[in-house]
Amino acid sequence: MDREQQKRLAAQRAISYVEKGSVVGVGTGSTVAYFIDELGKMRDEIDCAVSSSERSTELLRERGIRVVDLNSVGTVPLYVDGADECDGHKRLIKGGGAALTREKIIAAASERFVCMIDPAKRVDVLGKFPLPVEVIPMARSYVAREIVKRGGQPVWREGVTTDNGNWVLDVHNLSIVDPVGLEREFNQIVGVVCVGLFAARPADIVLIGDQLMA
Ligand code: A5P
Repeated sequence: MDREQQKRLAAQRAISYVEKGSVVGVGTGSTVAYFIDELGKMRDEIDCAVSSSERSTELLRERGIRVVDLNSVGTVPLYVDGADECDGHKRLIKGGGAALTREKIIAAASERFVCMIDPAKRVDVLGKFPLPVEVIPMARSYVAREIVKRGGQPVWREGVTTDNGNWVLDVHNLSIVDPVGLEREFNQIVGVVCVGLFAARPADIVLIGDQLMA
């Protein structure tokens, strides 16, 4: 089975976690696009969605789903998103689509985070996928130097501006044996807006295709 089929299966299974009449937090990416397709089929059964990107907002609205501001709903019962890598503790690397900050905010505000991946993204140690770090534009060079001191090789994702008006560094050469520690450390570099490590707040449920990860 190819990766796209696995993503679609994960999205179809993720729909079973959506409760009628509820607010659904929606992530960003190609896997989420399949989820939005499925969610569109039950648009009359949910209340509304909270979206992690302009791209997902557009897809949700195209399917007739009402999108509201996170500030107007408080705690979100369910957040559904994809990931770029996932380890055995459901800790993730995210941000391949540059939506990491809003994704992390909704994940933090959610009671339950369901993550959908295809089997190729399941790893023992995070870090083969370059770690996205969103930075304030004027701090790009400073943050990059600080990351080099910590053993990473940052590469500016030139030409990409996030929905928040910021830039992204993709950090290569990391073998992330202590994801919570590295997330904390990178968060403390002045100029960093968000680190694409979801370790302090990992996923609660991971679907690999249509299989539940133990
Ligand atoms: C978006 O910024 C990312 O965090 C995505 O969730 C992640 O890159 C997974 O995307 P795909 O579902 O397209 O692989």
